[in-house]
Amino acid sequence: MKAWFARHYGGPEVLRLEEIPMPAPKPGEVLVRIHATTVNSGDVRIRGCNLPPGMKLLGRLALGWNGPRQPVLGTEFSGVVEAVGQGVTRFGKGDAVYAFAGMRQGAHAQFATSPESGAIAHLPEGLDFHTAAALSFGGTTALHYLRKAALQRGETMLVLGGSGAVGVAMVQLATHRGATVTATTSTGNVPLVAALGAAVIDYTQIDVATLPDRYDIVADTVGALDFARAQPLLKSNGRYLAISGAMKEMLQSLRPGPDGKRMIAGPASERADDVMELGRLAAAGHFRPYIDRVFAFVDLPAAHAHVDTGRKRGSVVIAVAE
Ligand SMILES: NC(=O)c1ccc[n+]([C@@H]2O[C@H](COP(=O)([O-])OP(=O)(O)OC[C@H]3O[C@@H](n4cnc5c(N)ncnc54)[C@H](OP(=O)(O)O)[C@@H]3O)[C@@H](O)[C@H]2O)c1
Repeated sequence: MKAWFARHYGGPEVLRLEEIPMPAPKPGEVLVRIHATTVNSGDVRIRGCNLPPGMKLLGRLALGWNGPRQPVLGTEFSGVVEAVGQGVTRFGKGDAVYAFAGMRQGAHAQFATSPESGAIAHLPEGLDFHTAAALSFGGTTALHYLRKAALQRGETMLVLGGSGAVGVAMVQLATHRGATVTATTSTGNVPLVAALGAAVIDYTQIDVATLPDRYDIVADTVGALDFARAQPLLKSNGRYLAISGAMKEMLQSLRPGPDGKRMIAGPASERADDVMELGRLAAAGHFRPYIDRVFAFVDLPAAHAHVDTGRKRGSVVIAVAE
């Protein structure tokens, strides 16, 4: 089978398409012929070793010193079960599935394995492979932060950056959970974010730090503010979600702010339950990833270059099987 390898850190040019033996499913594992995967902000961050301040040393220790320890990137995919390992009962050959490999990665390939008990589920009714492949990265991050923030029905939320993979998921999932959501984006993305169900603020026209309104939650998906600058936007007991934060935010989040305000930061947990929940929400029409562009598998480096711009809208999908 073919897989894209990043054997060194660097720009999209470090990516190489290589031929490797097909994996065999171990007991309890499912082998999937991948139909679609995504290139997301996490993939390009790892490829470029583009780690935030305070995370550079720890990041290299965790990811690999000179190049990614797992050289096949890609955190999410959809496809068809090709074979199952001994003892697998939930899936059979030919089942359409989607999965979140998360930090295990390996989805930028023609085949991938997944533990049957992991974050893998049958394709939700009414969803195509491209959309199903894009459910998990932004979706699990949004669900994690909504849980940490303990969002209550009727609360108000300001999403800073409503048009990225995380923002698209956050706007829809918070709205579905009964929040009144306002989101920021640039002029060209206003119709997209409005269609997700948010009131929209064009950040190129209005400085969000000076807004007169107060919110129960400020979900910062892009690092547009920091906790200090977000405080005037928060009601008493408000929560600032530093979704793109790094070590500094994680340390600061240990100390509560004034007036019951607090910051929530850190990596989102990878829970199989969340991946299944996203499928149910998608089937019920409450969550749909927005697909910016679809690239052919052979053009995966071009997809990386597009994501590198920081301007992608929602998710960038790679059509692997076509
Ligand atoms: N904590 C975690 O576990 C976790 C998990 C996943 C992602 N993340 C982090 O979350 C961040 C977002 O990830 P993502 O995948 O959603 O990124 P993304 O899809 O690459 O975000 C791109 C979007 O960000 C918008 N944007 C950029 N600057 C903005 C600003 N100042 N205000 C409003 N919108 C802005 C752009 O819209 P415009 O062109 O309109 O500006 C674009 O549509 C990344 O830093 C990522 O590392 C963290």
